[in-house]
Amino acid sequence: MPIIPEETVQRYQRLKDDLNQHNHAYYVLDDPSIPDSEYDRLMRELQAIEQDFPSLLTPDSPSQRVGGVALDSFSQVVHTVPMLSLDNAFSDTEMVDFDRRIKDRINLDSSQQMIYACEPKLDGAAVSVLYKAGLLERAATRGDGSVGEDITANVRTIKSIPLRLQGENIPDILEVRGEIYMPKDGFNRLNQKAKQAGEKAFVNPRNAAAGSLRQLDSKITATRPLEMCAYSVGQFEGGDKPNSHFQMLQMLGQLGFKINQHIKQVEGIDDCEDYYQHLASIRDQLDYDIDGIVYKVNDFRLQERLGFVAKAPRWAIARKFPAQEEMTRLLDVEFQVGRTGAVTPVARLEPVFVGGVTVGNATLHNADEINRLGVCIGDTVIVRRAGDVIPQIVKAVLDKRPEGAQPIIFPERCPVCQSAVKRAEGEAVARCTGGLFCGAQTKEAIKHYASRKAMDIDGLGDKLVDALVDNDLIYSVADLYDLNLEGLVNLERMAQKSAENLLQSIEVSKQTTLPKFLYSLGIREVGEATAQTLANNFGTLDAVIAASIDQLLEIDDVGPIVARHIVDFFNNPDNLPIVEAIVAAGVQWKDIDQSADSLPLKGQTWVLTGTMETMSRAEAKDRLQEFGAKVAGSVSAKTHAVVAGPGAGSKLKKAQALEIQVLSEQSLIEFLATL
Ligand code: IVH
Repeated sequence: MPIIPEETVQRYQRLKDDLNQHNHAYYVLDDPSIPDSEYDRLMRELQAIEQDFPSLLTPDSPSQRVGGVALDSFSQVVHTVPMLSLDNAFSDTEMVDFDRRIKDRINLDSSQQMIYACEPKLDGAAVSVLYKAGLLERAATRGDGSVGEDITANVRTIKSIPLRLQGENIPDILEVRGEIYMPKDGFNRLNQKAKQAGEKAFVNPRNAAAGSLRQLDSKITATRPLEMCAYSVGQFEGGDKPNSHFQMLQMLGQLGFKINQHIKQVEGIDDCEDYYQHLASIRDQLDYDIDGIVYKVNDFRLQERLGFVAKAPRWAIARKFPAQEEMTRLLDVEFQVGRTGAVTPVARLEPVFVGGVTVGNATLHNADEINRLGVCIGDTVIVRRAGDVIPQIVKAVLDKRPEGAQPIIFPERCPVCQSAVKRAEGEAVARCTGGLFCGAQTKEAIKHYASRKAMDIDGLGDKLVDALVDNDLIYSVADLYDLNLEGLVNLERMAQKSAENLLQSIEVSKQTTLPKFLYSLGIREVGEATAQTLANNFGTLDAVIAASIDQLLEIDDVGPIVARHIVDFFNNPDNLPIVEAIVAAGVQWKDIDQSADSLPLKGQTWVLTGTMETMSRAEAKDRLQEFGAKVAGSVSAKTHAVVAGPGAGSKLKKAQALEIQVLSEQSLIEFLATL
């Protein structure tokens, strides 16, 4: 065996400690301490030492998180302290009953309040991680609560789980329990990759987390974006055990575990209810799925007195949120035609209460999605509605397929105008080729033109547009400016006053900005940001109309597809006369000064994250864009600056890792005032 120089041994130990600490800062505290490049450099140095002197290598080395040899099967693990489950409560009344039962059992009089620890109920997979003398020894699934499976190799790859405990007060034996989950953005990225590769996507983050943990090949688990949040302990020997659950969680935090940021100690059932309402209101903004709140009697002595019933403790309860996934039946599929002719299959469902509302329709996206799901009309399906996102069908329950279930056939002709439906090569979307001849496309184009972020014509809602087109009062957006009182009052349910108001709003909306006007034209792939970039770069409508593909491609963020759509739009003989008629009707804006002084942020990309407290996010975006900046949704090496408000998470973390300047909202306001 080669003799290892003492400096190398010391350097190796130092590198291990430093890397473990940087890892903790990055994955547990969400607060990177060094740039990624420096982390990589230290890791390479550590690996080089391990290569030269393999005898130095220990299981707590940060290099050991990449996974190892695949297993044939998982071995069984007996839980010394059983892993219990929780009773559920589905209403406030059930919560009041829970509180009363506890008070009765410990003879608390009704005026006294119980102290509870409140935590989000994370939607992932329960895990037990055992440490001996501070070193991760074994990790196991919950299984049936008494016997689980040994998933140590997989758990080692999860960076928010310490391989060695930190700090002073380290028990001889410590079994930490918690939830392993997949954050939403990691889940979306994983599924996107799976879809691109033609592989099966995961139904939801919980299945993805559980599936990733049950990989026999830990190298696969290592590629999955998993995290662990600690929420209790099992075995605890040879150390100072705290007196309460809340203190225990603080201790776990000090030992290096990730603890949920929203845990809170409250007094009494009313505060539990407030906590529930608050978490329900921010649920959609969290980076991870939660399916309820867990309330636990805080004091360990009281927990002991209360004990257990069957497989659940008397001292804890899970208050569930309304489910975000439910089963229902797919009754039919209709095909809707959008502004750009995109034909979208819409599922008509047997109404079902999911995510807090009754859902009767869900999107099926496109033909590929229908094939991927393998769904038929008549099938029982799982519908998911999370937050404000359009309800989705995530799965067909194949073993409930009835006899006579009908395959979904994508139409070859437009259901509105009967023109051919075509799908361009490489595109997922099929489109009606009818253009403005298609009533559906005309209506959608007008609705988009009138919408708030476009020309903002107050009072011109979807139903009115449908009525105007169906009654032959308008055929294109330009016709809006020829509307008169007489024609309008003849429409069913249109009162004189409403008609006057509409004409007035159309008049007011004529004062606009060039970016809004470009956006309102509904050119394919030209969203608000691209419209702003076009306006900033060309300054006038005429210059945009005259721009060649090459000139368009010179602009950052305009790729060949958008450039082609822009040129095609203005070359289409139907479109220019409409644009000219709109301008002739008096729609106007201020052209954009192209001098460097007026656009001091030209070429810069900014990112806004977290909550803005003084101005709204839209306002901050508008102001930055007015000075020529591009406002993007994600941080990359090209980002010039990030404005971070309270609640900023992964974007802020990334900006810090990339050493990009970060401003508070206040500094942004001060900075804009200097321009
Ligand atoms: S405490 C005896 N706390 O919910 C107490 N569980 O139905 C046992 N879960 O299997 C669990 N978040 O996987 C607890 N903050 C939290 C939790 C939580 C999620 C899961 C856990 C458990 C299931 C119980």
